[in-house]
Amino acid sequence: IRIINADEREETLEIHVTLNLSLMEALKAGGYPVLGTCGGIALCATCAVEVLSGNEHLSLPTDQELDMLDLLPNLPRFTRLACQIRLRPGMDGLLVRLVG
Ligand code: FES
Repeated sequence: IRIINADEREETLEIHVTLNLSLMEALKAGGYPVLGTCGGIALCATCAVEVLSGNEHLSLPTDQELDMLDLLPNLPRFTRLACQIRLRPGMDGLLVRLVG
């Protein structure tokens, strides 16, 4: 997974997907500044990321995720809640920008 930080630096996070990790959990484990205040139940949006590449490999957002995103102003078009993205093989090259 490639990540663009707040300072626009791109980094690569190697993840071996052996568990049903969410992107939020993987980012936190990798030391990225993702709060994940609600613990991953789509209620805080502190894990929001803009998906710049690889959107086609992600499951569609649930109504709960869309409702949460609707509460936030001026989000980039492909913003998702990282806690709602389950990592699976085949997501190699996913590129996200941290926004939460
Ligand atoms: Fe709260 Fe993702 S951790 S919405």
